[in-house]
Amino acid sequence: MKEEQIFQIAIDGPSGAGKSTIAQQVAKLLGIDYIDTGAMYRAIGYKILERKINLDHTEEVIDLLGKTDIDFSKGNIILDGEIVNDQIRTPEVTKMASMCSALPEVRAMLVALQRKMGQAKSVVMDGRDIGTNVLTDARYKFFMTASAQERAERRYEELVAKGQNVNFDAVLADIIKRDHDDSTRALNPLKRAEDAIELDTTGMSITEVTEKIIKEIRKNGNC
Ligand code: DC
Repeated sequence: MKEEQIFQIAIDGPSGAGKSTIAQQVAKLLGIDYIDTGAMYRAIGYKILERKINLDHTEEVIDLLGKTDIDFSKGNIILDGEIVNDQIRTPEVTKMASMCSALPEVRAMLVALQRKMGQAKSVVMDGRDIGTNVLTDARYKFFMTASAQERAERRYEELVAKGQNVNFDAVLADIIKRDHDDSTRALNPLKRAEDAIELDTTGMSITEVTEKIIKEIRKNGNC
């Protein structure tokens, strides 16, 4: 692919808005890579929990970051050479990912890595600050939302399908708390980029949202 043909698609939004599923579909349809930045924060959160590191001990966090390698290969997230797709999806890691994503040292490392990953080739990247901070020059920016109730229902069904024993009210409360924490943290909070197209996916199917995004991209002749 020639340099001028490289383009980035940034998809941001709160948890449970359907970003990863849609971003994956869009990437597949366009034949480009998908980068799940939430999985990168989760991988760091997982390692912090494994090593029992106290987030207040900044030196230890910095030391851990310096010895951490994160990559994606064939749809898998690789942490220090090991596939950790499932380990990073537990409720404990979800909480720790949100907490450690507020640390400047963690964000600095991951944002630098994400920019590197997004510059080399065409990508679909999803997260909270992709359009506002990581890939500010992305050719396409989308901000995906859905009502908290619907996002909680989607997450609840996902967890039940995985065999986890969950309570709906707890899932809803967790979504509301994460929305609050992610959008009020001082550093790169969840926010719609001014030039992002807002997509409210409440009541929409995965196919409908994917088609809407592809249509926007086609308008500009990129697929
Ligand atoms: O999308 P997710 O639930 O896998 O993200 C896990 C956490 O990482 C979430 O609480 C917010 C944080 N995150 C972030 O701060 N910035 C990003 N670009 C992606 C995720």
